[in-house]
Amino acid sequence: MKGIILAGGKGTRLYPMTKAISKQLLPIYDKPLIYYPLSVLMLAGIREILIISTPQDIDDYRQLLGDGEKMGVRFEYAVQDQPRGLADAFIVGESFIGSDPVCLILGDNVFYGQALTDVLSGAASIVTDRNDAVVFGYPVKDARAYGVVEFDADMNVVSIEEKPERPKSKFAVPGLYFYDNDVVGIAKEVKPSERGEIEITSVNNAYLEAGRLKVQLLGRGMAWLDTGSPDGLLKAAEFVEAIQSRQGFYVSCIEEIAWRRGFIDDGMLEALGTELKMTDYGQYLLSLLE
Ligand code: DAU
Repeated sequence: MKGIILAGGKGTRLYPMTKAISKQLLPIYDKPLIYYPLSVLMLAGIREILIISTPQDIDDYRQLLGDGEKMGVRFEYAVQDQPRGLADAFIVGESFIGSDPVCLILGDNVFYGQALTDVLSGAASIVTDRNDAVVFGYPVKDARAYGVVEFDADMNVVSIEEKPERPKSKFAVPGLYFYDNDVVGIAKEVKPSERGEIEITSVNNAYLEAGRLKVQLLGRGMAWLDTGSPDGLLKAAEFVEAIQSRQGFYVSCIEEIAWRRGFIDDGMLEALGTELKMTDYGQYLLSLLE
C-alpha cells in the first residue's frame, strides 16, 4: 500500500502565521505538524510515501524529510499548483500510486491513541483483501466544519455530507482515508462542488453508492485533534507536552516508529539521534537504545 500526505493549501485561516511558511510545517510542541500524519502512515506499515504541497513550499518539505533512506522509507514529492480539492491528491499522485491501494492523510490531522496501530492495520487489510474503502467516524461536539456520516439504526451508513449546516450525526469523518486502486478513476470523475473543489466526500459517496464503503468508529480513547485555529494549535501542543512529560514516551516520533517497526536498525537510529544530540529530541532517540 502507498501513502500520500496532502500538505498544500494556502493556510489563510491561520494568517499571519502561515503567510511565509506552510501550515503543515508549523510546530506542534517539539516537532513539525507533518510528523504527526507521517507517523500514522508509518504505523500503518506504509514505507512509500508521496508528499504533495504547493510550488512555493515543496522544497521546504524536501529539506525537512529528504528521500527517506535514513529512516528506511521512500519519500517522493509532487506539486499541486492550485488547491483544487482533497481528491485531487489521487490525480496528482496517479503515477506514484501505480496499481496499488493507497492511504491518504491530510498533513494537518493529528491522531493519538492506544489502539491506533490495530485500527490502521485493520483498515489496510480490508482494502487489500476486499477492495473496499475505509474511512472513520469520530464524535465531535460540533460537526459542521467536517464531512459528516449518518447511520441508520443498524449502524449502516446512510449518507456522508460535506460541511452540512445541520449535521445528521455527531460523527465527523477525519482526514484519513484508505482506498483500493479504483480511487484514481473515481477521483477523475468527480465534478467540482459549489466551492469549486473536487471533494473527498464525493469520492466517499461514490464508494458508498457502490456498496464498498466501510466506516469505522473511533472511540473516546482516541485523540483526533484540531489544528485549524491558533487555539487548536496551542491545545494540540499542550496535549503532546502533557503526554510526553508524564510518560516519557514521545508522541509521533517518526524515527522511533521506524526503529520499532524494523525499518531501521540500532546503528541507523544512533546516527539519527547523534545528528540531533544537542536537543531533548535527539537525546530521546539515543535513550531508546539503552
Ligand atoms: O480534517 C478533516 C476534514 O478535512 C474532513 O472532515 C472534510 O470532509 C474534508 O473536506 C476536510 O475539510 P477541511 O475544511 O479541513 O479541508 P481544507 O480545505 O481545510 O483542507 C484540509 C487540508 O488539506 C489543509 O491543510 C489544506 C490541504 N489542502 C486542501 C485542499 C483543498 C491541500 O493540500 N490541497 C487542496 O486542494
